[in-house]
Amino acid sequence: MRDAYIVTSVRTPGCRRNKGAFRDTRPEDLLSFILDAAVKKTPNLEKKDVDDIMVGCSFPEAEQGMNIGRIGAQLAGFPDEVSGATINRFCSSGLEAIAQSSMRVMAGWSDVTMGGGVESMTMVAMGGNMPRPHPGYTVDRPDLYTSMGITAENVANRYKITREAQDEFAYNSQMKAAKAKADKLFKEIVPTPATRFVKQENGTFKSETFLQDFDDGIRESTTLEGLGKLRAVFAAGGSVTAGNSSQTTDGAACSVIMCEDKVRELALKPVAKLKYYTTVGCRADEMGVGPRYAIPKLLKLAGLSIDDIGVWEINEAFASQALYCIRELGLEKYMDRINIHGGAIALGHPLGCTGAKLCSQILTNMQDLGVKYGVESMCIGGGMGAAALFELCE
Ligand SMILES: CC(C)(COP(=O)(O)OP(=O)(O)OC[C@H]1O[C@@H](n2cnc3c(N)ncnc32)[C@H](O)[C@@H]1OP(=O)(O)O)[C@@H](O)C(=O)NCCC(=O)NCCS
Repeated sequence: MRDAYIVTSVRTPGCRRNKGAFRDTRPEDLLSFILDAAVKKTPNLEKKDVDDIMVGCSFPEAEQGMNIGRIGAQLAGFPDEVSGATINRFCSSGLEAIAQSSMRVMAGWSDVTMGGGVESMTMVAMGGNMPRPHPGYTVDRPDLYTSMGITAENVANRYKITREAQDEFAYNSQMKAAKAKADKLFKEIVPTPATRFVKQENGTFKSETFLQDFDDGIRESTTLEGLGKLRAVFAAGGSVTAGNSSQTTDGAACSVIMCEDKVRELALKPVAKLKYYTTVGCRADEMGVGPRYAIPKLLKLAGLSIDDIGVWEINEAFASQALYCIRELGLEKYMDRINIHGGAIALGHPLGCTGAKLCSQILTNMQDLGVKYGVESMCIGGGMGAAALFELCE
C-alpha cells in the first residue's frame, strides 16, 4: 500500500452561529473559498491535478444540500473533470472525508485528492429543517434520537463528572484559546471573505464583503465564577451549560492529499502522513464516550501506546464527555498535550467541518512542537467514536 501525504491543511476561522461573522455567508462560499485557498497554498499544484474532493457535512440540506462537495468544487473553479462528494458521519464527517480521500491515494486509485468539511449552523441548525423520526421510535428506540445535550448529561450523571470539573475544563479551554489567539498560533487559518448586509438610508440592504481572520467565539473574559452562574440548558437540575458545551459554529476546512511520486514531481515538502483511521460504535444515549473506545482501537492498530503520542485533539463536544474519556484513557497525566490551544468549547464545533478543522489544527501543532505522532478523535451523534493517527514528515 502507498503512503498518503498531507501537503496542505487549512481552515476558515470558526464563527458563532447567528451572532458571528459568518451569519450571512453562504456555506458554499466558505467551502469554495477554502478549497481554492488550499490549492493556492500548495506550490506547483494545479486544480486539474486533483482527482476527487470529498466534503463532510452533518446536515447536508437547504443552503448546504444538493451535494455541496461538488458544488463547492465547481464554485472554486475546479475543472468539470474533478469530481466531488458530500459525506456524513455527523461530527467526524470532515475526518471521514480526509480518511476516505487518503485511502484512495493509498490504494493507488488517485494520485491527488482533497478532503474537507463545511457547516453553516446558522443556516441549517442542528437536527435539520425537517426532522422526520421513525414513528415507532418513541416506543422502540428513543435513544437513537436523543438530544446531544441529554447524552452529555447522561455521561455526567452515570460517570460522576461534576459541574465543577466541567466548568474548570471549560475555563482552561477558553484560556488556552485566548492565549493562542493573542500569540497568533492559529497559523492554519486563512483570512476568509465574509458577507454582511448593511442597512442603507432608504431602508434597503446592501451586501458588503469583509475579511474575517479569527475565531470569534473565544471568550477571553471567562471566569470560573461566571461559568458557575450559568444555568443548565438541557435538563432541569443538570450540569451542562452554554459555558461547558461546545459552541455552535459556522466554518470550513480542507486538506490536500497526495502520493509520494506526486510530492516529488511537484517538489513539495509534505507535512504529515495519515497512518491509521478507525471508527467504533457505542450506546447512542451516551454518544460522548466514543473516543474512549476509538482511541485504544486506533493505538492497537498502530502498535503504539498513549505515551508515544505528542499531541492530542480530542473534540470538546461537551466538557463532561471529554473529561470522562481523558480519565478512562489514563490521559490525565498528559493534560498539557491535549487540545493545547483550546477546543470546541472556546473555538466552536461546526459539526461536519470539525474533523477537517481539527486536522489543520493538529498538523500546525505537530509542526510547531516537532512531535512525531498526533491523534485526533471525537464522539459522534448516534453513538460512535472516530480516531486518526498522523505522523509528522521529517
Ligand atoms: C449549549 C447551547 C444550547 C448554548 O447556545 P447559545 O445560547 O446560543 O450559546 P451562547 O454561546 O450564545 O451563550 C449563551 C450565553 O451564555 C453565556 N455564556 C456562554 N459562555 C460563557 C462563558 N464562557 N462565560 C460566561 N458566560 C458565558 C453568555 O451570557 C451567553 O450570552 P451572550 O453570547 O449574549 O454573551 C449551544 O451552544 C449548544 O447546543 N451546544 C452544543 C452543540 C452540540 O450539541 N453539538 C454537537 C455535539 S455532539
